[in-house]
Amino acid sequence: MSKKYKQAWDLDRAREFYNIPVWGEGYFDINSLGHVIVRLGNQMQIDLYEVAARLTQQGVSLPVLVRFPQILQARVKQLAHAFELAAEKSQYAIEHLPFYPLKVNQQGTVVEHILSADVQAIGLEVGTKAELLAALGVFDGESGRLICNGYKDRAYIRLALFAQAMNIQTFLVVEKLAELELIIEEAERLNIEAILGVRIRLHSIAAGKWQNSGGKEAKFGLSTAELVNFIAVLEQQSYQAHLKVLHFHMGSQISNVSDFRLGLLEAMSVYRALHEEGIKIEKIDIGGGVGVDYSSQQNISYFSKSYSLQDYADTVVVTIGDYCLRHDLPLPQVLSENGRALSAHHAVLLTNVVEAEQLPAPTSPAGAQEETLNLRAVAARLLQDINLTGAEQTLSIQDYDQFLQRVGESFVSGEISLLERAKIETHMRACLPTEHHIQKYYLNFSLFQSLPDAWGLGQIFPIMPIQKLHEEPHQQVVLHDLTCDSDGHIDSYACDGKVSSSIRMHAIEDTQQYLLGFFLLGAYQEVLGDMHNLFGDTHALNVELTDNQELVFTDFEGGDTVQELLAMVHIDSARVMHRCQQRMQAAKNTDVQQRLAEINNALYSYSYLDSMDRPAHRIKDE
Ligand SMILES: Cc1ncc(COP(=O)(O)O)c(C=O)c1O
Repeated sequence: MSKKYKQAWDLDRAREFYNIPVWGEGYFDINSLGHVIVRLGNQMQIDLYEVAARLTQQGVSLPVLVRFPQILQARVKQLAHAFELAAEKSQYAIEHLPFYPLKVNQQGTVVEHILSADVQAIGLEVGTKAELLAALGVFDGESGRLICNGYKDRAYIRLALFAQAMNIQTFLVVEKLAELELIIEEAERLNIEAILGVRIRLHSIAAGKWQNSGGKEAKFGLSTAELVNFIAVLEQQSYQAHLKVLHFHMGSQISNVSDFRLGLLEAMSVYRALHEEGIKIEKIDIGGGVGVDYSSQQNISYFSKSYSLQDYADTVVVTIGDYCLRHDLPLPQVLSENGRALSAHHAVLLTNVVEAEQLPAPTSPAGAQEETLNLRAVAARLLQDINLTGAEQTLSIQDYDQFLQRVGESFVSGEISLLERAKIETHMRACLPTEHHIQKYYLNFSLFQSLPDAWGLGQIFPIMPIQKLHEEPHQQVVLHDLTCDSDGHIDSYACDGKVSSSIRMHAIEDTQQYLLGFFLLGAYQEVLGDMHNLFGDTHALNVELTDNQELVFTDFEGGDTVQELLAMVHIDSARVMHRCQQRMQAAKNTDVQQRLAEINNALYSYSYLDSMDRPAHRIKDE
């Protein structure tokens, strides 16, 4: 039992226990009611439990993805400020231009709030034709900045050139040598000045889960030999003056800031070599990669990071500045494509516990004394079989697992009955230390839809109750989703400064609504989420606080209805209705109209369990 475990429980202990000061970066806290709040500055706070209660009053069923656009905008400003400060401290007059990579979260409301964050000239980075068209739809005003990455065909290149002609400054980054000829051809045909960038493949590799985007094995970018060919083609075509941007991206969720320095030093050597060739690169695009401390470990493990935004900006500015000074080179502008670091914090999924699996009471096997003695004897014999004689008093979780296997074998071989098996397992489970009395909580959500990276990559996300935090949680739990899939549970939790396979929550009383928040979901999760088991998009909305502390809900997007999900797998709901009607009539059912109406309601309802336990109704019509 750790020392911390014995500490008296209060709100500070609750904050520390659920690691809020680390992953929350000042945007999350707990109020005196024991509820999780979002902090938007002095005196500006939003109570998440109150948000959930108001949504329920308004007839919105959980799960709901709640977005806080004010957090998004604060992150954009924080990044801009970090670069300003870095330039000021180092006295290197390096200008920073941020670009938000659309792939991280393409939701219109997210992109629009980022673009309106009151930071001069934030641009967008796109990697496909579809993202480019999306960007064209969200820029307003007369200007804009765009980086076009990703593999390009003629149509993509033409769209990018159209953007340039619409006064959106567009950097066409060459990822494959063949793109260059197409760009030159189309720019000449359309008589539009192309601004070129080139993506280089660095040898430097950052530590991290997504480091494969960088390194010599990287999927994208030109190798050194290809870069030399690229320069030769530029020269043949007299196109050198169009190349303005040198781009690299070392991967996402980089946990160690010194990896950025290594990558930058390599990129700066290319910058220098290009200058020596007479190619006056003006901008270094350093890609994305700034990490988020999902696991609150403040170290260089996969889902953590060991530096602040300021450390990152300082590293970039000083590394570039020093290099240019040493080699008598002009200072380039710095373009960055930070996605995760800007958008992760702003979105939280709120949902309810549907059921807590009932653990058998930790007592001796029930029944007559004789039966008890008999079961004890069987248990002792099975323990002996696996060399655990006398382990009953000191059973470890590993011993218990071994014991369960032996019990299973003896059941299959007919040595013990089903009832005996149940009683022996229950009895031995009660012998485990209390921290292993792990209960299953079933939650109203789909892991595959809302936290796909927890499923696909074992990514850790901060998860905690959003109420009752003045009470110490005592129940060790594992969280399961609604899908009929054994993968649909969370097996890594960051809690109390460490990562473990279960988490402590409050014991659940029958009638109580116990709500959980899944935090830092704003990057990558929404668009990667899938419809496993036909659980669709959750409801989503923006929650903002006005200057006079008024809570406002905007941009409500109803979650997918069953009918919409069926349409996505090409099953026609009208046909479902028609077939049901035919069958009911053939089976001479009574109440046909009423039953058909209920099926129709189900088709137009939310795919999750109704957290308000009301008859199915049309979510879209709410
Ligand atoms: C080219 C490029 N730029 C930017 C990003 C965003 O990276 P991050 O979300 O780590 O900031 C990515 C994502 O991997 C990328 O591929």
